[in-house]
Amino acid sequence: MIACCLFDLDGVIVDTARYHYLAWASLARELGFEFTPEAGEATKGVSRMASLDIVLHAGGLDDRFSPAEKERLAAEKNARYLAYVSAMTPAEVLPGAAAFLRDVRAHGVLTVLGSASKNAGTILDRCGLRPLFDAVVDGTGVTHPKPDPEVFAKGAGAVGARPENCVVFEDAAAGIEAAARAGMRSVGVGGSPLLAGASMQLKGFEGFTFEMLCREID
Ligand code: G6P
Ligand code: MG
Repeated sequence: MIACCLFDLDGVIVDTARYHYLAWASLARELGFEFTPEAGEATKGVSRMASLDIVLHAGGLDDRFSPAEKERLAAEKNARYLAYVSAMTPAEVLPGAAAFLRDVRAHGVLTVLGSASKNAGTILDRCGLRPLFDAVVDGTGVTHPKPDPEVFAKGAGAVGARPENCVVFEDAAAGIEAAARAGMRSVGVGGSPLLAGASMQLKGFEGFTFEMLCREID
């Protein structure tokens, strides 16, 4: 049985992965190197500071900056990222995502957001998504980033759902691993080969229904 669906935000409900990448790439350019979209894949689902380490490593700049300088670089990236997301509208919700959330809820199944982002609240409000979730757990309430299961365990706990009755929707390998470590099934969204460990794969939500989910993995 499925009692609760937990959703990652970036790359699953909205395409903010693109904005994260653009903000990191512009910071990298200022530091004197190109941060490629392929290298950017590794930052998906990963916390802000861990993403910064990935970016600096790609530019051969490991150990170049003090902790205070790294805080400043992360804040600079976040300012650039916020400039993108503060201008978001409901039109940027990925095709079929809001309809799928409504369909899940119409079946009496709980919906929870489980995101590593500290900006999740801003994005939910900008895109009119908050009413579609029974609980929101984001980067402001989690201490261990994915692939640690904390965000999904807390999300399920917030609505009283047992892990074996939960399904996680994720676009990042770290998120699929977090779901498995939380004892939950998972759906890999977006078609990346890195998501092979998920219980099922989904290109996107368009045309996808809760009944189809049940048929596939329940
Ligand atoms: C999500 C994204 C990551 C991002 C992380 C932290 O998991 O997939 O790319 O680094 O959130 O986001 P934040 O908005 O707090 O910098
Ligand atoms: Mg994601």
